[in-house]
Amino acid sequence: MKKLNILLAASEVVPFAKSGGLADVSGALPKALKDLGHDIRVVMPRYYVVDKEKYNLKLLEGALSVHMGSMGEMWAAVYEGKLPQSDVPIYFIEYDEFFGRKGLYGEDSDGFSDNDNRYIFFSKAVMQLAKKLDFRPDVIHANDWHTAPISLLLNTTYAFDPIFKNTGLLLSIHNLEHQGKFYKGAMDVLGVGWEHFTVKELEEYDGVNFLKGGIVHADAINAVSKKYAQEIRTSEFGFGLQSLINDYEYKLFGVLNGVDYDEWSPSIDKLIPFTFDIDNLEGKEKCKAELQKEFNLPQRSEVPMIGFVGRLAEQKGIGLISSCFERILEMDIQIVLLGTGEKWAERFFKEKAEQYPLKFASYIGYDNTIAHKIEAASDMFLMPSLFEPCGLNQIYSLRYGTIPIVRATGGLDDTIENYDAYHKSGTGFKFYDASPIALLNTVQWAVDVYYNDKEGMQALRSNAMSKRYEWSKAAQGYEEIYHHIINGRLNSHHN
Ligand code: ADP
Ligand code: GLC
Repeated sequence: MKKLNILLAASEVVPFAKSGGLADVSGALPKALKDLGHDIRVVMPRYYVVDKEKYNLKLLEGALSVHMGSMGEMWAAVYEGKLPQSDVPIYFIEYDEFFGRKGLYGEDSDGFSDNDNRYIFFSKAVMQLAKKLDFRPDVIHANDWHTAPISLLLNTTYAFDPIFKNTGLLLSIHNLEHQGKFYKGAMDVLGVGWEHFTVKELEEYDGVNFLKGGIVHADAINAVSKKYAQEIRTSEFGFGLQSLINDYEYKLFGVLNGVDYDEWSPSIDKLIPFTFDIDNLEGKEKCKAELQKEFNLPQRSEVPMIGFVGRLAEQKGIGLISSCFERILEMDIQIVLLGTGEKWAERFFKEKAEQYPLKFASYIGYDNTIAHKIEAASDMFLMPSLFEPCGLNQIYSLRYGTIPIVRATGGLDDTIENYDAYHKSGTGFKFYDASPIALLNTVQWAVDVYYNDKEGMQALRSNAMSKRYEWSKAAQGYEEIYHHIINGRLNSHHN
């Protein structure tokens, strides 16, 4: 197959800056694409948290000129580095007025008030970077609303630029809830012409919707799991864009994310106190004892420990959990939770930890090491999301023999197979209704299997631990979409 030039633009990339799974994806997929022989390059903003010295970033000569419409011309510096343990170049767009602050998108759950300008700037800088490097992409791979404007820029401002003569665009949707909705004045900064401010393109209720414009102009869209690609066509999951997405159903794909098993494997994980594997789970038991100590929970090896790691956002089912939390805690179990997000939820879990010190412990904050320790130590992992485009933590859990308890939605449904006691098959416990009672029943079921069906629990563990979601496979799925885009463009040029 032809080797491609690919430019992947994302608002966050591990290990440089991360708020969620998008960073995991944009740090790992490029390495897998490189292994397939493609010339893949990554670009992200140089946020304040990106440590130039630690990552040995080099300043490129010459600044990028970025035309910000009514705001005038601005100049961005570019730093270059490599994705760790790879040859993949990553470029950082530096403009301190926009990115030299604490926080990626905002200081708390409210976004910065100039996020429209920040990501218009970044999107334009991506285009200018390709020109500066004389890198002629076959495909630009944009991700979520932040870089969705690239899709529009490619078809307007840069439509006749020779650098982008053969460039197609893939937009990955990692989360449809966040669409980048702003005051229509952003049109003047975007500078693509007000003729694009119509309900068929960027306009929504007299404001601008970046993701909407991105969807319209992209050559293809990927929704990170097959199930989610179907769900976003319905009013329950479409966040108002379902009919638009249905119009473009022909360019919609659902390639599932992979896992970076260099980071998430219990046999080589450097962040956990004891390593283990499918043939020897002694290390897992020790990890559990260690975590109980760290979180001041009673040292009991026989009690089932349920872990939770994630953003405390409605998406993650925290409303369901809080509605039946006391009922869940009536069982003889331990729960360990790590997360940040909604203020009410942070308060709620802090209070519950004080109220139930023998059963529940929480760490309100962001900490990658604790995330690994919880994955390793827990017997089960709770992820009752209302919607979940792909979800990574349940897949990490499988590898650590930590049995997921999930709601059957999006990637959770695609990656977790329900336990069948008769055949001793399955990898987790699934429920369907987004209701506290369904969640409670399923946790009760899981706890019952833990105590009373040892053989079943063992089977679940070994089924889970032998599952693999390799990036090399996901990368092939992306490769197919890229070729599909390129062939589509070739055909339309010939007609
Ligand atoms: P989302 O992208 O919706 O947040 P994913 O499951 O795809 O959900 O990815 C979440 C990623 O962020 C995982 O790698 C998870 O371990 C990590 N993560 C989430 N919250 C925290 C936290 N409080 N501390 C450490 N890591 C976290
Ligand atoms: C989003 C989704 C999550 C997905 C991640 C990476 O943040 O909420 O389900 O795994 O992006 O694609």
